[in-house]
Amino acid sequence: MSDHKKLQDWVSRMTELCQPDEVVWCDGSEAEYNSMWDLLIKSGTAKKLNESLRPNSYLVKSDPNDVARVEDKTFICSANEEDAGPTNNWQEPEKMRETLIGLFEGCMRGRTMYVIPFSMGPIGSPIAQVGVEITDSPYVVTNMHKMARVGTAVLDHLGEDGEFVPCIHSVGSPLTDGQADVAWPCNSKNIYIVHYPETREIWSFGSGYGGNALLGKKCLALRIASAMARDEGWLAEHMLIVKITNPEGDIKYIAGAFPSACGKTNLAMLTPTIPGWKVETVGDDICWMKFGADGQLYAINPEAGFFGVAPGTSDDSNPNAMKTLHGNCIFTNVGETDDGDVWWEGMTDEPPAHLIDWKGNDWTPESGTPAAHPNARFTVSANQCPVIADEWEDLKGVPISAILFGGRRATTVPLVNEANNWNQGTFFGSIVSSEKTAAAAGKIGELRRDPMAMLPFCGYNMASYWQHWINIGKKDDAKLPGIYYVNWFRKDDDGKFMWPGFGENSRVLKWIFERCDGAAQAIETPIGNLPTIDAMDFSGLGLDETAIAELLRVEIDGWLQEIPMIKEYYAKFGDRVPAEFHEQLEEMQDRLEKAKQEAA
Ligand code: GTP
Ligand code: SPV
Ligand code: MN
Repeated sequence: MSDHKKLQDWVSRMTELCQPDEVVWCDGSEAEYNSMWDLLIKSGTAKKLNESLRPNSYLVKSDPNDVARVEDKTFICSANEEDAGPTNNWQEPEKMRETLIGLFEGCMRGRTMYVIPFSMGPIGSPIAQVGVEITDSPYVVTNMHKMARVGTAVLDHLGEDGEFVPCIHSVGSPLTDGQADVAWPCNSKNIYIVHYPETREIWSFGSGYGGNALLGKKCLALRIASAMARDEGWLAEHMLIVKITNPEGDIKYIAGAFPSACGKTNLAMLTPTIPGWKVETVGDDICWMKFGADGQLYAINPEAGFFGVAPGTSDDSNPNAMKTLHGNCIFTNVGETDDGDVWWEGMTDEPPAHLIDWKGNDWTPESGTPAAHPNARFTVSANQCPVIADEWEDLKGVPISAILFGGRRATTVPLVNEANNWNQGTFFGSIVSSEKTAAAAGKIGELRRDPMAMLPFCGYNMASYWQHWINIGKKDDAKLPGIYYVNWFRKDDDGKFMWPGFGENSRVLKWIFERCDGAAQAIETPIGNLPTIDAMDFSGLGLDETAIAELLRVEIDGWLQEIPMIKEYYAKFGDRVPAEFHEQLEEMQDRLEKAKQEAA
């Protein structure tokens, strides 16, 4: 319970609407965490893993129809449709409210309503924000314990009149007349993930999975926070944050925006392959940045844990993630080994001879179906990461020296290029395109524009968001980070990745680090500054000269083909597109055409 009148009133109203059997205020204690698992095991939702192999850890299997974010059921309900913009689903706020009231009425019958006060960011940080999530899912309670700071400490911080974002969530599956529950209650035909950026509310119905249900993450920390950031002059971004220390002991912090399932967690925990360099983690998914008095952007990781993609995570690709997962974890939709541990595609070269797959069926390597769902996830506290930076919970945040943008591009986009200035970098961010991954429902592999990796997460008109980025760059005395465009996913003619990626990405980080100091060499090209072959250390990679040249090649024709597509894309946003972007595009086109003529 709380002395906060507004919070009390809201919880009372939601209780009346949802009609739960019981209301529980979450205190964030270990006893509460354990009691949720008792419930989840009893209901058949979860299974405790082998205590000697994976202590204090649980395996959960979701409904096969509820496995990822559902972008076409995600809504931004601003008063004016243009304020949501062409990339968001919009509905008239009051009309949506009627729909929601209809859906939520009685939706928690037969269930317990949990009230979870949470802080995104260390409690008391000037960059942090408080939310309160109401949910009827004990699974959500367990995940919120790991992903945010939750419970009594947050209520104490809120006091009697602190600001909070109300977030209501229901799996949308009431139990009437003693009806038996299912293992993963949801209402997958009626999913609604609704945001009111103006009144700062979140309503989520029908799904219990990931960003659909853990409302502090994408709903608050990105969609609502992006609108707050616009109003208040800061940035809420889908970015990892890493700390890099060079052999001389100099430190820089770099943030990076890649679309979902495009390598943020991997880069955040990277084990450098170049001697003497150290990489430590500050955050792996979300970054909030505010200007400090010195004109630098200071970043916090608003989350307290990692909700990471399991498939592909191994001792080779991400040893630090594997160490983080030693115990105290939640695994969702992975395979279960015969000795009561977990397995997923890519974890070991040799798959186990037998498993129970994520759907609960017997599985062998001959099954021909994946043992883990491609969007299977682990949930774990960030403080278990062996390379978590000491300052990851620093209340003032860490100063950002460089920002990376990137996506999955099999062609055209080189390994790395550097923007000449903030406006060009922002322009690069706006044209990022990437092949779709399993992190959201829909067709995988399809190329789409995902500006700043924010396509599914921007809480207002994307073009106004671009303008906000441009405006950030106009601040007096700002010491802005350098901006870089990277691509780990270039493929050769046989469809194989040309760049080894993972720990080897440290070579690119090193070049960027040294560029920030004006030390490393670069050549000017029509698409920004690329490393000279000697400026980047390619030694010991077994890459021949043609492969390296290909990775760093400016594909004049490929880029020229992009130009009309970018123009067409911008046209969708009408006159909200910053004038600076049209200039950048024209200038890039001129440079490319000139280069083509010179080559001919
Ligand atoms: P979200 O949590 O959805 O936001 O994803 P993320 O951006 O944190 O992606 P993550 O690091 O979990 O990587 C997703 C997938 O990309 C995994 O299957 C990785 O194995 C793969 N991946 C990550 N880094 C690289 C890389 O450098 N090269 C290649 N080829 N694959 C990579
Ligand atoms: C993403 O899809 O970018 C994620 C996973 O980080 S979720 O929390 O489900 O959004
Ligand atoms: Mn993400």
